[in-house]
Amino acid sequence: MGLLIKNGEIITADSRYVADIWCEGERITRIGRDLEVPAGVTDAQIIDATGKYVFPGFIDPHTHIYLPFMGTFAKDTYETGSIAALCGGTTTVVDFVIPMRNDEPMEAYELWRSKSEGIACSDYTYHMAVTRFDAGVEGQLREIVGKEGISSFKVFLAYKGAFGVEDHELYAAMKLAAELGVIVTAHCENADIVSALQNELVTAGNTGPEWHEPSRPELVEAEGTRHLCTMAEITGAHAYVVHLSCEQALRQAIEAKLRGTNVWVETLIQYLTLDKTYAEKPNFEGAKYVMSPPLRDIANQGFLWHAVKTGLVSTVATDHAPFDMTQKRMGEDNFCQIPNGIPSLEERVKLLYTHGVAGGRMDIHRFVDAASTQAAKIFGLFPRKGSIAPGSDADLVVWDPKHKGIISAKTHHMNVDYSAFEGWEHTGRADVVTVRGQVQVRDGEFVGKKGIGQLLRREPNHFGNGGVV
Ligand code: URP
Ligand code: ZN
Ligand code: ZN
Repeated sequence: MGLLIKNGEIITADSRYVADIWCEGERITRIGRDLEVPAGVTDAQIIDATGKYVFPGFIDPHTHIYLPFMGTFAKDTYETGSIAALCGGTTTVVDFVIPMRNDEPMEAYELWRSKSEGIACSDYTYHMAVTRFDAGVEGQLREIVGKEGISSFKVFLAYKGAFGVEDHELYAAMKLAAELGVIVTAHCENADIVSALQNELVTAGNTGPEWHEPSRPELVEAEGTRHLCTMAEITGAHAYVVHLSCEQALRQAIEAKLRGTNVWVETLIQYLTLDKTYAEKPNFEGAKYVMSPPLRDIANQGFLWHAVKTGLVSTVATDHAPFDMTQKRMGEDNFCQIPNGIPSLEERVKLLYTHGVAGGRMDIHRFVDAASTQAAKIFGLFPRKGSIAPGSDADLVVWDPKHKGIISAKTHHMNVDYSAFEGWEHTGRADVVTVRGQVQVRDGEFVGKKGIGQLLRREPNHFGNGGVV
């Protein structure tokens, strides 16, 4: 079986040209003008991409599809989450295995795999969270990296008592990462300051969702970011700041970059398009917009957009963590109990295209880079993913740049009863989406095979191999 995509304008992180793409055996095998289905191939699919763009499949490097959190579970399954991802043009997600502090990492890894294997419809891999560090954990981490092909860790400076680690554990985890050539992704907020501020606010009777941001101010995130960068500098580990939300925190990461620390930064589509006034909406509607770090003062947005445009921020992710309104209401009397997360896995690419490319804030190559190629490079998937070249996986998005649509919970595929972007207009859409040559989406709807998603093996020590910026 083969797949021929005709006459599309192929746009990658660094090139743009009109050509045909021939895919065979899950890979791209030829790119050129006037390609024909080879003689003898009788069951090829042909897609006319005239007037459309063809992008490499998009990669979301930060999702939580299966997530036990704050006394409940995120609502998506790997079926609903990956279908939503695909309908939005995302062909690979990087989810997180997160053991509770007393759980064993290997058991958690097996649990997460049992949720995804034979169920996911897109490809995927995992960051392995280190939520405790001792000799037993270390042995299991070595095995997860060496035998399972998981080449990134996750640490939480926040959520002490649940996922958060102590400093001596953080140091040990980063030393191990440096030894193994594994990159350490990190949630950077000072947990103790957050707890103190939460207690003070709630005691003073400030219990609504609008108090979530003041309980986790920008300075707390900046302090956490600096802390991670210091640990990276001292241990020599490669570090990746997840969901960076504000200028103050970014300045800490830039300072560290200037000192020569290997640190990369991710922001989220939510921080680029929403601000803290959404969490101030009356009648508990603000709960839809509670996530951590919180949505910030709008003054941060221009800075973040510029940082994405110039590559100071490498990637734009979602931190997709879908909790429905019933779950959000667990925090009706106390914002600290509102499950954190703003679902957005399906909307990331169209919002980045609409507000970034069509909105004149970034060029189309940087858009591909930030939404696909950089994640592939930083997390050891490149050039298998994030690229359109012979030998790369045939993960392709035929994009209609003229499409106009409206975002709504009534039509989205995420298993959650609201959209943070309800009624927003968008420009452009993923018309056809393929995963390793299999057409999974047509006309923006899932038409493919369920359960074909593969767990991607990643090798450690991939830095310097693919020009990570
Ligand atoms: O609010 C968020 N970010 N929810 C998901 C968990 C995390 O911190 O990434
Ligand atoms: Zn986080
Ligand atoms: Zn997260």
